[in-house]
Amino acid sequence: MSNIIIREFTIDDYQFANALWQTAEGVCHCPKCTILNTKERIEKFLNRNPEFSFVAVDSGNGVVVGTALGGHDGRTGFIYRVAVADQFRKRGIGTELVNKVVASLKSEGLTCIKTFVLNDNPNANTFWEKNNFGASKTSITIEKKCGEKMS
Ligand SMILES: CC(C)(COP(=O)(O)OP(=O)(O)OC[C@H]1O[C@@H](n2cnc3c(N)ncnc32)[C@H](O)[C@@H]1OP(=O)(O)O)[C@@H](O)C(=O)NCCC(=O)NCCS
Repeated sequence: MSNIIIREFTIDDYQFANALWQTAEGVCHCPKCTILNTKERIEKFLNRNPEFSFVAVDSGNGVVVGTALGGHDGRTGFIYRVAVADQFRKRGIGTELVNKVVASLKSEGLTCIKTFVLNDNPNANTFWEKNNFGASKTSITIEKKCGEKMS
C-alpha cells in the first residue's frame, strides 16, 4: 500500500494541485481568489514565500492529494488553498499540512497566522476550529476590492 508523503510545494506540483483546487468544493472561486489559479501567479507566490507551502503526495503514483499554501508579509502569516482529495479526507492529512505551514511561519517569528474560510462551508469551519483557528474577538477584516472598478 502506498504512503502519503508531506513535502514542500514546488512549481512542478502546479498541474496536480490546480486540478485538486478546481474540483474540491469549498475552494473559493471568486475573482479575488482565482488570481492564484495560474501557474505564473503560483510561481510568483512561491518565489515571494519560499519554504512555507506544502503538498501531500501519494507515494504510489506521485499524485498530489493535498495542498496548503503559506506566506507572510513580514507581520502576519496567511494560509491559502488548503484542500485534500475526497478519497483521502478524514485521515489527518489536512491537519498535517496546516501544522507544517504553521510551524514554518512560526519559525520566521510570526505570532499571528490567518486564513479565510467561506461562511457557508461548515465542514471547513469545523476543520479550522479543530486546528485551533477562531474568529478574532477584537477586530474584523475589512477589504477594498482593487479590480477594474477601483475608485
Ligand atoms: C477541509 C479539508 C481540507 C479537511 O481535510 P482532512 O484531511 O479531511 O482533515 P483532517 O482529517 O485533518 O480533519 C481534522 C478534523 O477536522 C474536522 N473535519 C474535517 N473534515 C470534516 C468534515 N467534512 N466535516 C466535519 N468536520 C470535519 C474533524 O473534526 C477532524 O477531526 P476528526 O477526524 O478527528 O473528527 C477537506 O475536507 C477539504 O479539502 N475540503 C474541501 C476544500 C475546503 O473546503 N478547504 C478549506 C478551505 S478554507
